[in-house]
Amino acid sequence: MSTSLVETKKLFIETLGCAMNVRDSEHMIAELNEKESYELTEKSEEADLIIINTCSVREKPVHKLFSELGVFKKKKKEGAKIGVCGCTASHLGKEIIQRAPYVNFVLGARNISKITEVLHKDKAVEIDINYDESEFAFKDFRTSPYKAYINISIGCDKACTFCIVPKTRGDEISIPTDLIINEVKRVVATGVKEIFLLGQNVNNYGRRFSDNHEKVNFTELLRRVSEVEEVERIRFTSPHPLHMDDEFIEEFASNDKICNQMHIPLQSGSTKILKEMKRGYSREWFLNRIEKLRDLLPEVSISTDIIVAFPGESDEDFEETIDLVRQVKFNQLFSFKYSARPHTEAENYTNTVDPEVASARLTFLQNLQDEIIDERTPTYLDKTYDVYFEALRSDGYISGRTATGILLKVKGSEELLGTTKAVKVIKTGRAVQEGEVLT
Ligand code: SAH
Ligand code: F3S
Repeated sequence: MSTSLVETKKLFIETLGCAMNVRDSEHMIAELNEKESYELTEKSEEADLIIINTCSVREKPVHKLFSELGVFKKKKKEGAKIGVCGCTASHLGKEIIQRAPYVNFVLGARNISKITEVLHKDKAVEIDINYDESEFAFKDFRTSPYKAYINISIGCDKACTFCIVPKTRGDEISIPTDLIINEVKRVVATGVKEIFLLGQNVNNYGRRFSDNHEKVNFTELLRRVSEVEEVERIRFTSPHPLHMDDEFIEEFASNDKICNQMHIPLQSGSTKILKEMKRGYSREWFLNRIEKLRDLLPEVSISTDIIVAFPGESDEDFEETIDLVRQVKFNQLFSFKYSARPHTEAENYTNTVDPEVASARLTFLQNLQDEIIDERTPTYLDKTYDVYFEALRSDGYISGRTATGILLKVKGSEELLGTTKAVKVIKTGRAVQEGEVLT
């Protein structure tokens, strides 16, 4: 007797790197579930398919990949397949299978919609960075039922001399506005209230579509997303400082659904180094944009990325970064030591900074940021904020964020999840604030 039941297989997926990778993983999970009946597992040893969705922005995670692959190979179930996806897949390609012959397929960051194809071709390597995924249908898997990541563009059209991303994700193409709005409507119908728009340079949206689509810029896209009634909160990452025109800043400041939080990657506070990085703006332009933002929205929360010890960074250049950080007092700062990456212009620069100096600069910058945070957090005490609850923490608390991105946790039942409540801060901390629900 035959059975009509489809056998479910188990998928283990590890996601490294940025929010875009999180969304790419969601996309692959949905494809594998829909077309191949895979279901997620958190245990790699019971999986039929193990996927690592990789990041290649810095060198460290690339080294980690091969040691991790070795561990998966030892622990995996007999017959289970291993796939390497994402940015490191794009830039190393078949070298991954040469170094780790037990890997079954390699799938680049711009080819993830081909996951169910490569799955059945042993040793397949799909890494074409000219592949156009901008009109590929969105799929139904979301890590969080409360917040939806939505891609608005793929690739990047810049050529920052330190960055490998244009070589792993290819040229920038915007996703047609009607597809984005349809997706927003689809996710809010499932109860999602927060929309998180993703792109390498979100405010460059609309410059290039793959076909004859209506030309809509990022400011207009924000308006249209906010017009979807059930949308309560809109966030996005990352805008490029170069494209922060007045119209965009004014819309950001005046549209009540857009959260008062912006991640604006600075990279360096020295105009000389910004030029070497080919970022396209000066220290003065960056400071001018911050001033405009804060004039319109004094409470805005601003985070940034900074690279220390880019080749040629002198003590004076670093001082300029420090001076800018002291002036702006970012709400959050992600800082990295420069890491030379293959296929980038800066890869062969010979004026590198001594590694000990680089480490000392990173430590100095991080200590300064800790001081800024320690100065700011006590001011949260006894204040009341609207918090959208979205996670059950391992310590049993329920956590959520304010519109400005402050992470708050409260004691309470899981019924709080997916709701917005007024919360009073009762205890402050560097990473998370504790509060109590007032209403
Ligand atoms: N699109 C974003 C950046 C994406 S990469 C932008 O506009 O800047 C994420 C962050 O990684 C960057 O902001 C940068 O600070 C860091 N990064 C990128 N390449 C790096 C490198 N070679 N070494 C160290 N940090 C790097
Ligand atoms: Fe990288 Fe610069 Fe694009 S940092 S992602 S090349 S904007």
